[in-house]
Amino acid sequence: MRVGATADLHSFSPKFGAIQDQLAQVRDQADVLVIAGDLTNYGKPEEMEPLLNSLVRLRLPIVAVLGNHDYESGAQVELMRMTKEAGIKLLDGTAYERDNVGFAGTKGFAGGFGRGALTAFGEPEVKAFVQGAIDEALKLERAMSQLRTPKRVVVLHYAPIGDTIQGEAPEIYPYLGSSRLAEVIDRHGADVVFHGHAHHGSPDGKTTAGVPVHNVAMQILQSQKTPVAFRVFDV
Ligand SMILES: [Fe+2]
Ligand SMILES: [Fe+2]
Repeated sequence: MRVGATADLHSFSPKFGAIQDQLAQVRDQADVLVIAGDLTNYGKPEEMEPLLNSLVRLRLPIVAVLGNHDYESGAQVELMRMTKEAGIKLLDGTAYERDNVGFAGTKGFAGGFGRGALTAFGEPEVKAFVQGAIDEALKLERAMSQLRTPKRVVVLHYAPIGDTIQGEAPEIYPYLGSSRLAEVIDRHGADVVFHGHAHHGSPDGKTTAGVPVHNVAMQILQSQKTPVAFRVFDV
């Protein structure tokens, strides 16, 4: 299966036309499109509606997770409903199987990586923040344990490893992802992981167990010599 992958559409702004034109080619080059979160800028239904209209016109199966921007207005439940109604497989701690390829997805959360990961110690505010990261790791665990397919694709918004956020300011690394997600991925095994969120990060990395991880944030794809709106991977 040829999987097209992208993230951080942010309602196609500010390069609405150019990115739409590039994305229109996905149907010829991929069998499925993965969108790794931040579909909108402010999480408003009125942003999501025109975006979904363009995505439906791509006429290929789409698998997506929401990103932090899609939560900004507190309308995430409404956005999920709209997305599902448009025929997009919106994963939120859930799995989807198609042609012997399994997709497990969840938004993920922040909290940092490895020895730098924040732990649930001290103030209730810290514990609540860390619980957010633990909850998302548990959702990924639930999604991955549902998969029965030989091939497995993981879709996240936040980064599961530090490699693919290199290029961002080191001060914000802990807000770009959580290695708790990578621990789940390595325990279950996967063929490939896609994420976004780190707009100035690096395209490729690997988990400790060697699972390929790709940051497909639109800003990275657009900063290549030949700007593209998606990358294609054989799974
Ligand atoms: Fe983003
Ligand atoms: Fe984001």
